[in-house]
Amino acid sequence: MSEYKLGKIIFTKEEIENRAIEIAERISEDYKGESVILVGILRGAVIWLTQVLQSIDLDVEIDFMAVSSYGDATKTSGVVKINKDLEGSIEDRNVIIVEDIVDTGVTLAYLVEYFKAKNPKTVRVCSLLEKPSRRLVPVKIDYLGFEVGDEFIVGYGLDIAQKFRNLPYITSLVE
Ligand code: PRP
Repeated sequence: MSEYKLGKIIFTKEEIENRAIEIAERISEDYKGESVILVGILRGAVIWLTQVLQSIDLDVEIDFMAVSSYGDATKTSGVVKINKDLEGSIEDRNVIIVEDIVDTGVTLAYLVEYFKAKNPKTVRVCSLLEKPSRRLVPVKIDYLGFEVGDEFIVGYGLDIAQKFRNLPYITSLVE
């Protein structure tokens, strides 16, 4: 039996899928006539990325990065370690960074600067969730699924100790 107890469903599969379609339609409108690269940040963003991707009506490519924050996450050091870099070039391309959750903002702030240094045409951000109450570094989320409170969220790609990424909905851990 699992050592973790889950709370009520916060967002259902249907709610998340409908939001993914709305966001994909906005992306398709915003970049009409152009191509985009979705860059998923492993591992949590994988399920959300595939959901948005399937409703984008553009010339679209995907790439992935894996990163981890150094040391104490409560400090605004902004130091992030790259464990897996992009495969392709983003020079002069429209890049959309795809995250599962923006918490302190440290990871995303670092990634935006990292990408901008590679001379893309544009860089925007799409995140399934954000936790505004935990923000330490200001970051702009252009395409946001939903806001959540300061709870430990799991499901739909989000984990605790690598568990629960497979849940087809978003829920929280109960203390
Ligand atoms: C999560 C999330 C972001 C980061 C957000 O990744 O996917 O990348 O933390 O936190 P921040 O806003 O405080 O920087 P995590 O390290 O849990 O890896 P995972 O996606 O593989 O679960």
